[in-house]
Amino acid sequence: MTLRIEESADRVVATLDRPEKRNAIDQATIDAIHALCAGLEDDPRTLILTGSGGTFAAGADIAQLRERTADDARRGINAMAFLRVRDLPMPVIAAIDGYALGGGAELAYAADLRIGTPSLTIGNPETGLGIMAAAGATWRLPEIVGEARASELLLTGRVLDADEALAWGLVSRIVPAEDLLDTAHAIADRIAANDPLATQHTKRALRAPRSAHPAVELELQAELFASPEKHRRMTAFLERRAR
Ligand code: COA
Repeated sequence: MTLRIEESADRVVATLDRPEKRNAIDQATIDAIHALCAGLEDDPRTLILTGSGGTFAAGADIAQLRERTADDARRGINAMAFLRVRDLPMPVIAAIDGYALGGGAELAYAADLRIGTPSLTIGNPETGLGIMAAAGATWRLPEIVGEARASELLLTGRVLDADEALAWGLVSRIVPAEDLLDTAHAIADRIAANDPLATQHTKRALRAPRSAHPAVELELQAELFASPEKHRRMTAFLERRAR
């Protein structure tokens, strides 16, 4: 198993687990990511994505990449899996220790939240291998860090350390490695305390293209305004105040 899954009622932790290959993402891992997504589409829960052995993922599996053809590239083997991660109904938290390179970085870019450790090393060295980053980086990275910084990273292949990644907003927090998973779980706890439908609708609005606004959030809000959970939560608030 290259992806270790631990499930609970409100979250799933998926650990890339091929430390001897620095968790390089191979076809088996991609298949496991699709299976994971199918489960989370049916039963939406927060996803924590992480890696074993002090590494997130040192890229797509270069041994497999070398043998892939133009048609394989057109199928977007990694791109489609990472899109599916991005589109999961509930938030995705990437908890990144060590290397997140190439496809590993792109998997992290597909997450909604990214937190790292002091050993974080993140970036896209693809052009050095004669390919481009084509599993989300060319559009996700500019969304996350802005076009100037994304261009610098993608056109030079330079990788960032933890301090730079934090300063550039590529991760929202750096925590000691021993606190990484606890911090991810604390974020998942906060999410779990809120209304899941309100969280899902917020994610949908955040992910919608600019042209869809403001119609998209108004429609989603309309659904929430009509939900019994809104009434219940607001009544609980008001009754607490009245006591
Ligand atoms: N694909 C396939 N195998 C990989 C891999 C990848 N992306 N990254 C690491 N591995 C394998 C190595 O080939 C090596 O295998 P071996 O033990 O059978 O020889 C094993 O993982 C350990 O890697 P090694 O390079 O010895 O570890 P390290 O700790 O010295 O260096 C890295 C770690 C991440 C700096 C280095 O492995 C690396 O540069 N990897 C490729 C990064 C990259 O270009 N990614 C973009 C791909 S699109």
